[in-house]
Amino acid sequence: MDDNDDVNGGGEDEGEGEAGGGDGGRFTVELEGVPETLLWNLYNRAAEARRPGARLLDDPLAVELVDRIDYPFERFGGSGMAQWHALRVRCLDDEVRRFVAEHPDGTVVALGEGLETQFWRVDNGRVRWLTVDLPETVEVRDVLLPDDPPRRRSLARSALDLGWMDEVDDSEGVLVTAQGLLMYLPPSDVKRLIAACAERFPGGWMLFDALPRGMVARSQAQADDRARADAQARAEAHMETDAGGTDAGGTGPAAAGTGTDAAGTARPGYRAPRWLWGMDGKEYRRVATASPRIAEVRSLRLPRGRGPYAIAPVSHLIPLLRGMRMSIVSLRFGAADYRDGDRR
Ligand SMILES: C[S@@+](CC[C@H](N)C(=O)[O-])C[C@H]1O[C@@H](n2cnc3c(N)ncnc32)[C@H](O)[C@@H]1O
Repeated sequence: MDDNDDVNGGGEDEGEGEAGGGDGGRFTVELEGVPETLLWNLYNRAAEARRPGARLLDDPLAVELVDRIDYPFERFGGSGMAQWHALRVRCLDDEVRRFVAEHPDGTVVALGEGLETQFWRVDNGRVRWLTVDLPETVEVRDVLLPDDPPRRRSLARSALDLGWMDEVDDSEGVLVTAQGLLMYLPPSDVKRLIAACAERFPGGWMLFDALPRGMVARSQAQADDRARADAQARAEAHMETDAGGTDAGGTGPAAAGTGTDAAGTARPGYRAPRWLWGMDGKEYRRVATASPRIAEVRSLRLPRGRGPYAIAPVSHLIPLLRGMRMSIVSLRFGAADYRDGDRR
């Protein structure tokens, strides 16, 4: 596994936000930057779960959360990606269920969990669950999905602050998940995090998803273009102010990135934060180079979807789709006496 430094730049503002009581039991959620992306995932899961008839995901809690949250979900431009999200989640859930079946009293550590409702989809009534997410996200979780100790707990800190590892009881087995997280971290941190988990949790497991390098590079180019356009709009607004025009104050459409929603109301358009790390599907075995303690690396297959997604399980065999495919990777860490070379 390399650090991907050729493709990826430095860190991105991780954003800030808050949750406040809203009207009629609805809660206003104001998040920015990477934390705001959790609402896109939640919205798409709920959209699939609301689908009448055959659906890929049952997630009544996601539906309930979307209904309780006061947020302009229309900013996401519809739920066209709902099925894609559902396939990804089904694949991840299956792997977590496999761990829970083998380790009924084990611990799942969900890094960057956002408003994932996976616990409620896979719970066996015994498994322990530790959420590790940024403070502004945990604040939102605490309002909407309060902890239920000792089985379900949250830590408000970055996954990169490895102190969370001291809070993990790995005596009955541990699975660390990083779902929808690693693409937002600098490549060197991704490698460091995987290596630290492998060192710290012998005999444990890790599960994560990864976007292809081409997609990450495109996200970076788009973010750079937007930053240039914003800078230019700000400079022009400044010149107008200096020339005695009205003070745009950075609130103009181009400067602030405002858009128009379906109802024609001007509101800030959603801008996805840039991705920082990526990995092509065919590279998955290279993840093992992050640590000699990684004993097994598996690339998981997506389940079969509807319509064009019927080919999801074999998408890795189709050359045109290979570069567009997300990977879902499962790692097994060697036991304490594991020696590099026994790898599968
Ligand atoms: C795309 S959302 C994914 C949420 C959820 N795992 C899912 O798949 O729906 C990204 C999540 O990563 C969290 N996050 C971003 N940087 C983080 C960091 N350094 N440590 C822990 N969580 C982080 C955000 O707060 C947010 O909850």
